[in-house]
Amino acid sequence: MIIVFEVLHKDLMGRIGRLETPHGVVETPTIMPVVNPNLVLIRPDELERFGAEIIITNAYIIHKKEELREKALEGGVHELLGWKKPLMTDSGSYQLYEYGDVEVSNREIVEFQLGIGSDVIVPLDIPTPPDAQRERAESDLAETLRRLEEAKRISRGREGGGGEVRGARPLLAGPIQGSTFLDLRERCAAAVSEMGFDVYPIGGLVPLLEDYRYRELVEIIIAVKQRLPADAPVHLFGVGHPIFFSLAVALGCDLFDSAAYALYAKDDRYLTSDGTYFLEDLHYLPCSCPVCSKYDVRYLKECDREERARLLAEHNLYVTFAEIRAVKQAIRENRLWELLERRCRAHPLLLSGLKKVLEHAELLEKYDVSTKRSFFYLGETSARRPEVLKYAKKLDRFEVSGNTLVAALDTTLEDACKALKLDLQAFDHVFLVKPPFGPYPLELQETYPIGQSEVPTPMDYEGLTTALENVLKLLEMSKGAEFVFVCGEPWKEHPLIQKIKRRAKCIFV
Ligand code: GUN
Ligand code: ZN
Repeated sequence: MIIVFEVLHKDLMGRIGRLETPHGVVETPTIMPVVNPNLVLIRPDELERFGAEIIITNAYIIHKKEELREKALEGGVHELLGWKKPLMTDSGSYQLYEYGDVEVSNREIVEFQLGIGSDVIVPLDIPTPPDAQRERAESDLAETLRRLEEAKRISRGREGGGGEVRGARPLLAGPIQGSTFLDLRERCAAAVSEMGFDVYPIGGLVPLLEDYRYRELVEIIIAVKQRLPADAPVHLFGVGHPIFFSLAVALGCDLFDSAAYALYAKDDRYLTSDGTYFLEDLHYLPCSCPVCSKYDVRYLKECDREERARLLAEHNLYVTFAEIRAVKQAIRENRLWELLERRCRAHPLLLSGLKKVLEHAELLEKYDVSTKRSFFYLGETSARRPEVLKYAKKLDRFEVSGNTLVAALDTTLEDACKALKLDLQAFDHVFLVKPPFGPYPLELQETYPIGQSEVPTPMDYEGLTTALENVLKLLEMSKGAEFVFVCGEPWKEHPLIQKIKRRAKCIFV
């Protein structure tokens, strides 16, 4: 088997990867700007300047218009659009979703994509909308799977097929549908990975994204990811708002595509990594991209429609690719969680999405790297980060017996001992407590994550809670030890202290 996707760096379930296509290698995560051949706002040859490594266009739109179709079949889709790098084509499924019908069959559109030399081919999957009737979601899914099988046979050339294949073997995408039914999403993902594709797009998400239904987006992505091979490239169809990139990448998504930069621009909407503004609501331009550096907000409001759309589209592309780079930088530094926490503070429903991710911290912990250079506690959602879970899981290595001091203090240990007239030498073991992690042996204070973590003082309730839960765990597992628990502010007010009292002699300072 030829390896088309290779993971180079990891953080959480996210990764920087390289995807090989007939027209070259793409570094992921990345976003594919949508190029509509009928309506070009920014020419494909200009897109590179913003950071585009791969673009996506719609084979159905090309196929439908005789002039475009003939040109594409003659010179290839790359020549048609004036783009020499990797290029993905969509099949018309979105038009099928929008208008209920399309004028091509799956076979025709797959053969057409092969014939025009696309690098990544998409079968005519059926996007079932969210909250659909279950029967409909199931029958759409069965038909999607049948079409995927057919596309595989056609592209592998095992069946005759009409169209001629141009260039090296293109990648074949296997879209995953199933509406908002998680079991259907799982079943589909399992079936599609069993068939084996090069790229796995998750489809039918656009309406969820438009309605800020981030919790459900998270649930769907996790359901699908659990059934796909860990090293398979995952694409989110129609997801292109930079606000969602860090969250999606943290869950293991690699490719995005979007017409948002252009559609929003035509609608006078200005993208930022933490939301969208209507131009009329802007008093200043909160960005320093080339557009926002050169023009002021008044100019943008007053210039003619066409120029405004063009300038807004440029700005939108700049911020979109800037966010991709910020996500990649965060992966390299193993600080993706922290980026995610900051981005998810931009909207309460994103915060709900982040909390949904925390319900799956166990899964993220399995994928996450084992040591990081730093850990910044940025609020209550940091208390159950995968790193904290990992720490709790490894607590059993600290099982002790004999006289043991556990100290949760806001002063130094020496000061507390002096004040309490405690002799450290009298103890066989000494633990300090650092929230949100919990107890650690004095000797390990320089090691990860204790030595590398920066936490606020006073710590919030959630951070104290995880730390005290882990203190309790230590007390309960070390049956052969006698514990003295020294506790200062703000620890002593915490309700878990009552439980600790049952197992340790507590001294309050
Ligand atoms: N574009 C946005 N959503 C979808 C989808 O579900 N399938 C395909 N093929 N394209 C899309
Ligand atoms: Zn800008």
